[in-house]
Amino acid sequence: MTESSSSPVPLIDLRAQYAAIRDEIRLAFDEVLETQQFILGPQLTALEQQIARRCGVRLGVGVASGTDALVLTLRALGLGPGHEVIVPAFSFIATASAVILTGARPVFADIEPLYFTLDPASVETRVTPKTRAIIAVHLYGHPAPIEALREIARHHHLFLIEDNAQALGATWRGRPTGSFGIAGCLSFYPTKNLGAYGDAGMVVTDSEELARHVRTMRNHGQAEKYVSTELGWNSRLDELQAAVLRVKLRHLDSWTLRRQAVAARYTELLASLEPIRVPRIAPLATHVFHQYTIRVANRDAVAARLAEQGIATAVHYPVPLHLQPVFAHLEGHRGQCPVAERAAEEVLSLPMYPELSDAQIERVASALANAVSAVRA
Ligand SMILES: Cc1ncc(COP(=O)(O)O)c(C=O)c1O
Repeated sequence: MTESSSSPVPLIDLRAQYAAIRDEIRLAFDEVLETQQFILGPQLTALEQQIARRCGVRLGVGVASGTDALVLTLRALGLGPGHEVIVPAFSFIATASAVILTGARPVFADIEPLYFTLDPASVETRVTPKTRAIIAVHLYGHPAPIEALREIARHHHLFLIEDNAQALGATWRGRPTGSFGIAGCLSFYPTKNLGAYGDAGMVVTDSEELARHVRTMRNHGQAEKYVSTELGWNSRLDELQAAVLRVKLRHLDSWTLRRQAVAARYTELLASLEPIRVPRIAPLATHVFHQYTIRVANRDAVAARLAEQGIATAVHYPVPLHLQPVFAHLEGHRGQCPVAERAAEEVLSLPMYPELSDAQIERVASALANAVSAVRA
């Protein structure tokens, strides 16, 4: 397909990725189809080992989604009614709803303005005698300040859980995200850096006890076949998804490098464009750019002008968690997490995927310059 200077630019183009790996995927599918083993088989076992190794830990337990990875981790750690879990006020809904699903209460802390991740100072103010855990989200592919958060967790005897749904491959001081807390929770939702062809997720950990517990719970609480020792449910990562993920994992490093190059080019083109704020990278971090998210005043008007020019964008996320209608019973209020509230008004994610061409990046940047000046006029 030829690309003209006026072709629309999508937010993500999974068909381009599939075109590049079609033969490998079909081969992997065939392998599973020939065995007719679809649940808890060798593909999953191999994937669990590979992902755990990538995250710098020993154990991986595949589950049905990133949300289940969080819920099962919290449950396995014994969290439930009467407990509080500190979460960032700015994340995808599942970070907080997972806490509610265990019966515990999410307590919202504010974020840092530069990196959109948990602000350790705000976390400190949220600790109470009921607090049992902190969930750090490595949002957009940028690590949360994980050493400071680990120190707070250690000091107050709290579990630190990493929501690594958006940041597989990111590092802090050279060490992979997902290896700092008691567990890392991954999502392989199709649009993630490493995406399945359906829903899938994983818990990675160095704790034998936690891994065993999650492994039992994901399969009806069965310690052995047809003998259930605890309440569990059905949350398994199937063999076809595991096979897809294993193929894609072979490409992840090169895809990440290209995402980083796309981000660098965007930043080069946009850094001096007022009033845009380009994403920043903390000195100890590597960013895998699951999203390239700018800040801009009059965000919705700018997004509308971009849409008119054929440039797709998204807002991750328009409503901070403490103001989500579903959490109204928690009595969140405006002013509670001002940095998150402002981010929700200003963030705008630009097209970001490894197959994005240099010409497309330039087209997005010039459309953005037009949009900003049209909105200003
Ligand atoms: C930060 C974050 N946490 C949790 C999830 C939940 O993952 P899933 O959609 O696989 O349930 C997602 C993605 O959807 C996410 O982006």
